[in-house]
Amino acid sequence: MFTSDNFNPTKVIFGAGCTDRLAEFDMPGSKALVVTSNGTSAARTGILDKLEKALGEKNIGYVLYNKITPNPTKTQVMEGAAAAKNNGCDFVVGLGGGSSIDAAKAIALMMANEGDLWDYAYTGSGKRMEPKGAAPIVAVTTTSGTGTETDPYSVITNEETAEKFDFTNNAIFPMMSFIDPTLMVSLPENQTVYQGFDALFHVSECFITNEHENRLLDLYARDGVETVNKWLPKAVSDGSDITARENVAYAADILAGYSMSICGTTSHHIIAQTIGGLFPNVAHGLTLLFVAEEYYKKVGELRPELIDELGEFMGVKNEHNGTGFVKGLTALMDKTGIRYPAMSEYGIKPSDLVRIADMTVDNTGIEWEKYTLTKQDIIDILEKSYR
Ligand SMILES: [Fe+2]
Repeated sequence: MFTSDNFNPTKVIFGAGCTDRLAEFDMPGSKALVVTSNGTSAARTGILDKLEKALGEKNIGYVLYNKITPNPTKTQVMEGAAAAKNNGCDFVVGLGGGSSIDAAKAIALMMANEGDLWDYAYTGSGKRMEPKGAAPIVAVTTTSGTGTETDPYSVITNEETAEKFDFTNNAIFPMMSFIDPTLMVSLPENQTVYQGFDALFHVSECFITNEHENRLLDLYARDGVETVNKWLPKAVSDGSDITARENVAYAADILAGYSMSICGTTSHHIIAQTIGGLFPNVAHGLTLLFVAEEYYKKVGELRPELIDELGEFMGVKNEHNGTGFVKGLTALMDKTGIRYPAMSEYGIKPSDLVRIADMTVDNTGIEWEKYTLTKQDIIDILEKSYR
């Protein structure tokens, strides 16, 4: 028995140089709020100029909101939504990395709904209200990590409560996503590593969560894991290798997004997002890497056959004791120079670990997971990972 249920309404335009064709595509409105960071990606790649020209050719006006930071905040979302409403914008363009696109998606949600973003959060201190749709979203990505280009999620941090939550709604699938690997060649090496592992964990966690129920998911996850494993080291060692960038972008922005449209990630992501909420200056991929090795050792005890299958996708053959993926993962971490990242270097103290476990279990909750870890399991994973 298996299913192949699937829903993904995003029109994808993929390939080296595809953003040269921006003006060929119909935009979903007459005035855009362009959401981006105040950082370097738009300037570094020249994509903002390219977008401005394409919108101009189509007589579409735009307002720029360029205050998005890594781990985008509720304040930025509310400010962006107010700018859109005050200026009569009827759609958003998320331009840049996962943070800019996630923020654009949450802004689109608040352009179509009243009140505060946290009214629509469905865990923790959220008020669990059901949103009524969202403004249309166009994504133009400069990175390959989150999968937000092709999924229904937006991850936002509430600075007042230190909560970092997913907002999930079919209305925030981008209606159109441009994935142009030439925009990724200037990504710094550390970001390439963090984002590549984020993509690897998206596809492998969905593979674990799926437990072979949805056949399409297994197809996406296998190709995703194999592709990241083969091409991430090449993208890290030579950022200008366009074939490597193309492959990692395909795994991250398409296969991982499609996977997460079918089923969710594991509590590995909940632990990492809790760390990210408490320590917003730490990159998301790094928060995952902090605990990854110990997390998958634990899952290997609970679901050994899935962990060994994932190991096979990473070239680790004939493992039958639930350690295959751990071996493949640590080999990839060694190859990309990221083995043993130290939480202590990012201001995380041993005394923070119990709080991270408390928030993971009590605030966000992990009870949905089929192999439910206990709070003590999570404390053990954090303590064994700490250095
Ligand atoms: Fe992620």
